[in-house]
Amino acid sequence: MTIQPDQYAVMGNPIAHSKSPHIHTLFAAQTGQPLEYRAILVEPGGFAPAVRKFREAGGKGLNVTVPFKQDAWVFADLLSVRAERAGAVNTLILEPGGVRGDNTDGMGLVRDLTVNHGYLLAGRRILLLGAGGAARGILQPLLVEKPTQLVVANRTADKALELALRFSDLGRVSGYGFAELAGRQFDLIINATAAGLSDAVPPLPEDVLAPDGWCYDLMYGSEPTAFVRWGLEHGAVQALDGLGMLVEQAAESFHLWRGVWPETKPVIAALRS
Ligand code: ATR
Repeated sequence: MTIQPDQYAVMGNPIAHSKSPHIHTLFAAQTGQPLEYRAILVEPGGFAPAVRKFREAGGKGLNVTVPFKQDAWVFADLLSVRAERAGAVNTLILEPGGVRGDNTDGMGLVRDLTVNHGYLLAGRRILLLGAGGAARGILQPLLVEKPTQLVVANRTADKALELALRFSDLGRVSGYGFAELAGRQFDLIINATAAGLSDAVPPLPEDVLAPDGWCYDLMYGSEPTAFVRWGLEHGAVQALDGLGMLVEQAAESFHLWRGVWPETKPVIAALRS
């Protein structure tokens, strides 16, 4: 008798260029887990029916990407603490009793920095650029690591203030506009803005990165991103892109579904090449 592999997928729009099917297929091969993972293009407004259809066909779990992370947050019957805070869900666990929603993005970033790159977040001064969905998704896991301070800076200053206020019970977090960063320095600058989509970088003071500082861009590409280039030009010890985070958030999802941790290093290396 042949065993039918369990079905998983990523839903988004657009979805054709998603690396998730490749990543999870590598994880499955490496761990011997019997599963198949594909990409599903979902039309705007069609998220809930698409998930129901997938679930009725026996689907076991989903990743959710742009623009449906908030729809997934609404759809889930039960949310993890970090997903509740993030206001967004990137992982659905489809169980017979209901649908659980989680958000593994922030933990993916933290694991890439701390485990893959040996960077300790405790005691650091962190600057988070951007106050949209991507920034909100990583704030809770960052604050859990106990940085000395976390400053959110955004083009629209009010949104940074609002976001900082929302997370202020979890640590020392404050919000500003970019202009207010003058005279301040940070050990780690994380770019969660969409500026890189147009190969741009937010307007930052020249000396905002501390002499031994690191830069991390949530975006990635086959060429160094605009913010990675900015980091290198401003003396960053390391200027990392978000490919490691992408693989780490996928590993977290895989663990939630299968109870098994895949090894991420060979998968990151495979994607790099
Ligand atoms: P995402 O889900 O990628 O976070 P989003 O919620 O639309 O997308 O948020 C985009 C973020 O990038 C916002 O912080 C936005 O700043 P505003 O709140 O002022 O719009 C920021 N952003 C987009 N383009 C930018 C640019 N050219 N320079 C600086 N910040 C930019």
